[in-house]
This record gives sequence, C-alpha cells and structure tokens, in this order.
Amino acid sequence: MECRNVKFIATVLVALGLASGRCSFAAVQFIFGDSLIDVGNNNYLTKSLARAALPWYGIDFESGVPNGRFTNGRTAADIVGDKMGMPRPPAFLDPSLDEDTILKNGVNYASGGGGILNETASLFIQRFSLYKQIELFQGTQEMIRAKIGDAAAEKFFTEARYTVAMGSNDFINNFLLPVYTDSWTYSGPGFVNYMISTLESQLRLLHSLGARQLIYFGLGPMGCIPLQRILTSSGGCQESTNELALSFNKAASRLLGNLSTNLPNATYVFGDAYDFFQDMINRPKKYGFNNSDSPCCTIGNIRPSLTCTPLSSLCKDRSKHVFWDEYHPTDKANELIAKQIMSKLGYKSSAKATKRPN
Ligand SMILES: *[C@@H]1O[C@H](CO)[C@@H](O)[C@H](O)[C@H]1NC(C)=O
Ligand SMILES: *[C@@H]1O[C@H](CO)[C@@H](O)[C@H](O)[C@H]1NC(C)=O
Ligand SMILES: *[C@@H]1O[C@H](CO)[C@@H](O)[C@H](O)[C@H]1NC(C)=O
Ligand SMILES: *[C@@H]1O[C@H](CO)[C@@H](O)[C@H](O)[C@H]1NC(C)=O
Repeated sequence: MECRNVKFIATVLVALGLASGRCSFAAVQFIFGDSLIDVGNNNYLTKSLARAALPWYGIDFESGVPNGRFTNGRTAADIVGDKMGMPRPPAFLDPSLDEDTILKNGVNYASGGGGILNETASLFIQRFSLYKQIELFQGTQEMIRAKIGDAAAEKFFTEARYTVAMGSNDFINNFLLPVYTDSWTYSGPGFVNYMISTLESQLRLLHSLGARQLIYFGLGPMGCIPLQRILTSSGGCQESTNELALSFNKAASRLLGNLSTNLPNATYVFGDAYDFFQDMINRPKKYGFNNSDSPCCTIGNIRPSLTCTPLSSLCKDRSKHVFWDEYHPTDKANELIAKQIMSKLGYKSSAKATKRPN
C-alpha cells in the first residue's frame, strides 16, 4: 500500500485545517450524475438506449475513439476536477476498476438517463438512477473497508470530494413526457417539491456515508437545448421548461445551503451556471460561438437527430457550436460552464492543476 501525504488544494470545496504530513491517501473524487458527466458506464449497459458508443462521440477526446462521454470532448466535471488538480475517476463499470485504482482515482457512477427519481427514463431500459448509484457507492465502500480497514476507509471517504449532477432527465425524460405517470400526477411545483425532497434524502444518505465536501451542479436552461427548441413553432426556447429548471435550481440551492448549515462538517455547495449558459445561448458571438440553437452533429437536415451517429455529418468548426447533439453541450461550452461554476464558488486555478492534452 502506498503511503503519501495528503495534498492540499485551497478551494472553497475543501474544509480547512486537516494536518498534513500524515500517512494517507490523496483525496479523490466520487461522481454521481447523468449523461452530462457519464464517462462510460452506459457503454457497458448493453441494453441501454442512451449510449455514446459510436462515432462521432469523443472525436476531440485523446485518441478520438468513443469513450462513453456524450460530447465531443470533456465533460464539465472533467474540467472542474482537472482545475482542482484531481485525477479523473474511471467509470464504475470499467472492467479494470479495482481497489488500488479506486484509492488512487476515485469512481464515477454517472449514467446517461439517470435521474433523482427511480422511475425517470424507464424507457431507456437500463440506466443507474441516483439511488442506484449510491447503492453502488456503498458496495465500493465495502470493498475499500475490506482492503484497508475501517479507520483508514472512513478517513479516505470523508476526505474525498463528491460531485452530483442530476435532474435534467427527471424533466426531459419523465415529467415533460405524457407517457410517464408523473407527468399527469404532478403539477410543476408539486413535481419540483417531489424531486427536492427525494434529493434531500439522497444527500443526507451520502452524508451518512461520509460525504463532507460536495458540489451539486445545477440545471442549465433545458428549454433551450436543440431538442426542445425544435418542438416549438418558432424554434425559440421553451420558456415553461426553463421556468421549471429555474425553480428547481432555486430550491436545490436553498437545500444545499441548508444541509451545509445543518449537517456536521458538511461543505455542500450549489454550482450555478444557469444565467451564464443562457447568455451564451442568447449572445453566442460574445463567447466565440457561431451557433447556439442547433447540434453540431446531425443526420443531414433530419431534426431532431436524437443521437450522433457514424452517418451524421459534423459542423465545420466544433468549437463554434454551443451544442454537440440535441441534448449535450460541446467541449468548448463545457469548458466555459465549468469555469463559470468555479469562479462563482470563488475558486482560483490551482498551480497543481494537471495539464491535459484536451
Ligand atoms: C429506489 O431504488 C432503490 C434501489 O436502487 C431502492 O432501494 C429504493 O427503495 C427505491 N425508492 C423508491 C421510492 O422507489
Ligand atoms: C432546513 O433544515 C431544517 C433542519 O433540518 C428543516 O427543518 C427545514 O425545513 C429546512 N428548510 C429548507 C428550506 O429546506
Ligand atoms: C467533524 O470534524 C471533527 C474534526 O475533524 C471530528 O472530530 C468529528 O468527528 C466530525 N464529526 C462528524 C459527524 O463528522
Ligand atoms: C458562421 O456561421 C455562418 C452562418 O451560419 C457561416 O456562413 C460561417 O461559415 C460560420 N463560420 C464558421 C467559422 O463556422
């Protein structure tokens, strides 16, 4: 077992004051979320209808081979983690995942189609909901306890950083689709309350499992993703859908603040890039984009394209598009969103931040 000093990164995400120089593991990340930050889990869920296993997903990531990310390059969580100087955690279902890898790099449980609610995206057949992801994390904890003992494991899990990015699918692949029971059971505000109370239980559960430093990525303007725009007669954003995202964000931000105050030693923060994202969509040129209303990857003029495929054609310059496919931002947009989240949290780029090829 390797024995290293705990590395310190001065960020608001880090509770201050733990002693350095102790025999310990460096802090790693545990990541929970949906397709916005999936790094390959769904590629191993072979029956899932939400997979990024084919070109041109991943075209701008390292060797350019599809890697399970639902974008051309990095996710926002990749970029935030890089800026914090932390290793990128592998997908939970990666066959090479073992205890040593987990101790060194953490784990990413994120799954395309996953939601806060168990019933979200059931049409996708296979996906990990947030509860399921937490259950898998509990399995990881057992493995690590067996490997390094209870005391060291407790320290390892309390010092880790936690990221949760969930909620879009609960709207897009549940509440807003009339095929789901929730869509006719709840009003908008009722559904948001249902999501928030479920999320509160989930975050409290994570705290009981040792999560002390946690960042929750809020929702973006979901009504402006190309898929939603194509459904409006004008091609404009769906304002009612954006209202849902805003009211969820408001409640989630309050919840995170509340938990931070009330749970012992918890630093739980809400990462908000909604207004910034909306401005990027409204004024793309200001941010160096040329297009903020349609996907870079489409099958000719067929819209919605649902997914990017080897038969699709790509836009001329991927860094000029806000959206990669009907749902997901490009690498370039993710970079700006990640920077915004970090700067709003008062984070200054760490000197230790790892330099990566992309
Ligand atoms: C959600 O799913 C988890 C298993 O992943 C289960 O333990 C839990 O009881 C379910 N919750 C509800 C409300 O159905
Ligand atoms: C904040 O936390 C307290 C104590 O846990 C709880 O009673 C209250 O309802 C919470 N308020 C909100 C807005 O979540
Ligand atoms: C909070 O942190 C202190 C100092 O590290 C520790 O002694 C205490 O056990 C922690 N409490 C909980 C509930 O994590
Ligand atoms: C920007 O968009 C315009 C109009 O859609 C197009 O003519 C032009 O080629 C684009 N430029 C780049 C660099 O993509």
